[in-house]
Amino acid sequence: MTSFDLGTPLPLPTPSDELLRRLATRRSAPAQSLVGPGPDAAQLQEILTLGARTPDHGKLFPWRFVVLGPQSRARIADDLRALAIQKGLPDKARAVLAKLVNPPLSILVVSTAAPASKPVWEQELSAGAVCMNIEHAAGALGFASSWITDWYSYEPEATALFGLTGAEKVAGFIHIGSLSEPPLERERPDVAAITTILP
Ligand SMILES: Cc1cc2nc3c(=O)[nH]c(=O)nc-3n(C[C@H](O)[C@H](O)[C@H](O)COP(=O)(O)O)c2cc1C
Repeated sequence: MTSFDLGTPLPLPTPSDELLRRLATRRSAPAQSLVGPGPDAAQLQEILTLGARTPDHGKLFPWRFVVLGPQSRARIADDLRALAIQKGLPDKARAVLAKLVNPPLSILVVSTAAPASKPVWEQELSAGAVCMNIEHAAGALGFASSWITDWYSYEPEATALFGLTGAEKVAGFIHIGSLSEPPLERERPDVAAITTILP
């Protein structure tokens, strides 16, 4: 039987300059630039546990993880290469596979959303939030990460290679590793322009 602490009081929020600083400087890593070390087994477990600690409406937990080590990704990339040729996809479809095979560790977040007591849209949003929490957890452990989808997330023959079935969808491949150089900031939206403040 699974044991869990339902109703155990958790700490009240307190200000954290460190968390604010991290949120203000967080940046995705280009997947090609991720090098070792990646998370070890205990760190991976922590990342998954924190990722699964994400809001979802109705306690449906409409997501699951596929942890992809380098060997499985290399094997699947070979099959994807063949699939790209078979489907007559442009050369770029094969080139982007470098992003899949290069990183030390990859977590595929699968949306298992299906018609249920809560809207499918909300279940899918929750899967996206899981991706972001995984990135935050990896960052807190000192790793860089990259959230990628690419063409093989949208081809049923490709997603089947990762074990997706039925209506399951790829929420994201979260590639995790280390960076040898600091990331560069990119353009950010004008927050005022996208914000409506009502009294
Ligand atoms: C849902 C989603 C899908 C993405 N898919 C790809 C992708 O297929 N290829 C890619 O190079 N980057 C992909 N990215 C990463 C973005 O292009 C970009 O690097 C990232 O959003 C930068 O965010 P940041 O600077 O706030 O960290 C994806 C990001 C998201 C959120």
